[in-house]
Parts: sequence; C-alpha cells; structure tokens
Amino acid sequence: MAFALPVWLAVQEELLGHGGADSGASSCFDEFDDEALFQLFHLNRPCICFIIDAARIRMKTVAQKNPALSVDAMVMVALNYYAHGVSSTSVLQRVDQSQTECLATISTVSGVIAGMSDQFISFPLVHDAKNKIALKTEKFCRIPNVLGVLAAAHFKIRASPYEKDMFRSFVNSLGYTSVVSQIICDSDGNILSIEKCCVGSTFEQELWESSFKGREMEEEIHGPYWVIGGKGYQLSKHVLTPVSEPANDSETRFNAAHTKIHDVMRTTLGSLKRRFRCLMQLGFAQERSLDKKSNIIKACSVLHNIAKKFSVPPPPAAGKIEQLHPGKQRAEPEIKPEMLQARQELINAYFLTVSSGSNPESKDTAEEDA
Ligand SMILES: *[C@@H]1O[C@H](CO)[C@@H](O)[C@H](O)[C@H]1NC(C)=O
Repeated sequence: MAFALPVWLAVQEELLGHGGADSGASSCFDEFDDEALFQLFHLNRPCICFIIDAARIRMKTVAQKNPALSVDAMVMVALNYYAHGVSSTSVLQRVDQSQTECLATISTVSGVIAGMSDQFISFPLVHDAKNKIALKTEKFCRIPNVLGVLAAAHFKIRASPYEKDMFRSFVNSLGYTSVVSQIICDSDGNILSIEKCCVGSTFEQELWESSFKGREMEEEIHGPYWVIGGKGYQLSKHVLTPVSEPANDSETRFNAAHTKIHDVMRTTLGSLKRRFRCLMQLGFAQERSLDKKSNIIKACSVLHNIAKKFSVPPPPAAGKIEQLHPGKQRAEPEIKPEMLQARQELINAYFLTVSSGSNPESKDTAEEDA
C-alpha cells in the first residue's frame, strides 16, 4: 500500500467534509460519457471527482493566475495533457483556451498535484507498515526484509543539439536524451517514493547517494531493511543487487527471485507511461530549469497511486513494454567483503532449498494476477 489506510480515510473525510456540496455540483466533465472520459483522461469518473476535490482544496491556497477557468476546467486541461502529451481538440474547445494558455494551466495544476505527494506517495515509516510491506514482498519472491524496488526512471525529452555540452549531458545509457528520477515502488506497483529530476546521463548510483531516501536508508534511519536494486547499483547494507556470476543453485534461485521482484518496477513504469503518455516525451528541457518536468513527473506519480486506489486499469499496451535501463555495471570486487557476506547469508538462509514452506510457487502465480 502506498499509504496507510487511516491516512487514506482521513483524506476522504476531509474531502467529504470540505467539498460535500461541491462534489455533488456539476462539473465540466459531466458532458462526457464514461467511455469518452476514459479515452480523454485514462481515468474513470469517481477517480476524476476525487482528484478535482483534492485539487480544489489545495488550489484555494495557491494564488491563481488564471481565474478565468474554474478548478474543474483547469484539472481537465491538465489530465488531458497527462493522458496524451497534447491537448485534445474537444477539451480545448470546451475550455476555450489557446495552446499557450493551456501550458500555463498545466504548469499550475502540475505544481498543485505534485504538492499532493506528501499525502499520496508515502514511504512506510512506522515499524508495522514496514513489516507488512516486507512480509508481502517475501510472500511474493521469498526475499525477506525488502521494502521496495529501486530504479532510475528515464523520461524522454528534447534538447537543443546546437548546445553540444548541454545536449550531451541529457544523453542516457540507451543513447537518447532524457531526464531521470529516482523511484521506489512496492511489490504491488504503488509508488512509495519519487525524487530528483536530473539530466539523463546521471548514473543511478549517483542519484541514490545524493537522494534523501538513499541517505536515510544508508544512515539506518529506516532500520534493517533492503531495497532491490538492479546491476547499476552497488551492493550495500540496504541495496540488494543480484549476484553477477551465480556459482551454484542457491545463487541462481536468488537471482531468479531478484528478477521477479525487480520486474515489478518495469511493469509499474510501463503502466505509468501508458496511462500518462506525456511521460513518453516531456518536450524541450534546459539544464537549469527542470522543475517543471519534475512537477509533471511527480503529478503523474500521485495520479498513478490514486488510480490504483480506484482500481482503474491503464489503457492496454500499444507495443512492448520498455526495458529498464541497463545501467552502468559495477564490478563486484569493488564491493566491501562484509556486504557480500550479508547477501551470502541471506541466500544461504532462504535459498538453499528449492522452496521453503509449502509450494510457494503456485501461491506466487496467483498473487501476480491479483
Ligand atoms: C554457493 O557459492 C557461494 C560463493 O562461492 C558460496 O559462498 C556458497 O556457500 C555456495 N552455496 C552452496 C549451497 O554451495
């Protein structure tokens, strides 16, 4: 779960208490039937109503540069852009804004929704919440004490090729220009943390070491838990990477479990980019002004968690799901012996036999479908 149930209920209560009259009121979304709604916004009606109410509360405190548009109309412009990366004609006509005015609206709404991340994107803080997530993950892949999967998420941008140095800084390991954020998700694909928005050439290890979550975890603030990291990360006391050259069945089994949980990140990013197609191409970027990109990425992450709460599936995949970035491979000899030993102890304790307990394989498959 991305946030504890009590928090979620408190939010709903706040919304119902606050906007009780408002939420029953008509909105500019009413003119669309359910099918058109999903086509235009990749969300359903209850989910959109929830988002409008949540945004309305926050908007009251934001100085509005655009009083011409009501909150629901502003949210409509932004949600439509997130879903398609461009504004649909039917939405533009309805709100009677030019493309340029729309950009300002999208920027305002993105700031507001990104600001909701403290409520809707939450890393488990109390012992109980951590334990629950860890047990769920262990049931899924057999690896104990894991809070989430860590990755660097790349989002395509355009950069001017005439400014060579800047352009180069955006080119990532797959050879295209991007910005990169650090993301952690749980075994259900809820986003637990998203931070940073750097030029695409930034290595994931660098992101981790300079991130809040990275520093908190490595300084033991979160206790004896791991996050799962791919080959681009360095094995540490709290980042669990696969064995680079498995020497026996235990290590092979561990790597398979690692791949299984790591794959959740690939699916999560795939569904995020499918629902919010603006993330497939975030437009022009300048090195010194990545804040706007960052707000859009954060806003889509907030909306991803809300959509999951409302069980709205993303639109079907158009092509194959993008692979995670291979990252810069780390040589294992660089790693401190005590880190290798900690991982080895885990492997010996949990992966010596084919399966611990009664037939977890079939249980796993059932969970995956859920
Ligand atoms: C597997 O290989 C590792 C590394 O060589 C070793 O530490 C571990 O004890 C081995 N496990 C088994 C079950 O042989």
